[in-house]
Amino acid sequence: MDAMVVYSSHTGNTRKIANAIFAAIPGDSKDIQNVTEYRGKDADLFFVGFWTDKGDCDSAVAALLSGLHGKKVALFGTCGMGTDDVYYDQIAARVRKWLPSDNVYLGSFLCQGKMPMQVRNRYESMLDGSDRDLHIRLMIRNFDEAMLHPDRKDEQEAARFAREIFAAKSE
Ligand SMILES: Cc1cc2nc3c(=O)[nH]c(=O)nc-3n(C[C@H](O)[C@H](O)[C@H](O)COP(=O)(O)O)c2cc1C
Repeated sequence: MDAMVVYSSHTGNTRKIANAIFAAIPGDSKDIQNVTEYRGKDADLFFVGFWTDKGDCDSAVAALLSGLHGKKVALFGTCGMGTDDVYYDQIAARVRKWLPSDNVYLGSFLCQGKMPMQVRNRYESMLDGSDRDLHIRLMIRNFDEAMLHPDRKDEQEAARFAREIFAAKSE
């Protein structure tokens, strides 16, 4: 097997990116599985996808990454906070720490993903006329932007990432 895509997704954002990555991997020697159904199917290259949970990957993906050895691994993920490469890099660096050092890390792709409406409601309930409101309004603006993601462009960028990683792993 050339490539496995294994991902975790509660509300579908990361699944959407996982599907775009899977479709972009050349050839037929590939498979895609949710981390909940993954039972150790082997491959040279793993694309491991996560939804961001308090600045890290969720525990199922942490366990998966911790158990990989001697593989080529690329990460992808979605998170609620907007297009900020520094933030994305911080998350990727934190998630990468779960990966044992005998693997070859090939890079990461992150994009924004919509959040549940309760989050927006909570932000709104925090508005109280104080100086803090400015910050909360920025959070609400970010929430509304996130509602549009992952979009077609995110899927296309994920697909390009997958093709580049796949080409690089053969070098
Ligand atoms: C419990 C919880 C914790 C989260 N923590 C973060 C976080 O630390 N940073 C962030 O940017 N987004 C955070 N999010 C937002 C999700 O990572 C984001 O909506 C993601 O796209 C969900 O992916 P999924 O649809 O594949 O489950 C959190 C969401 C939940 C439910």
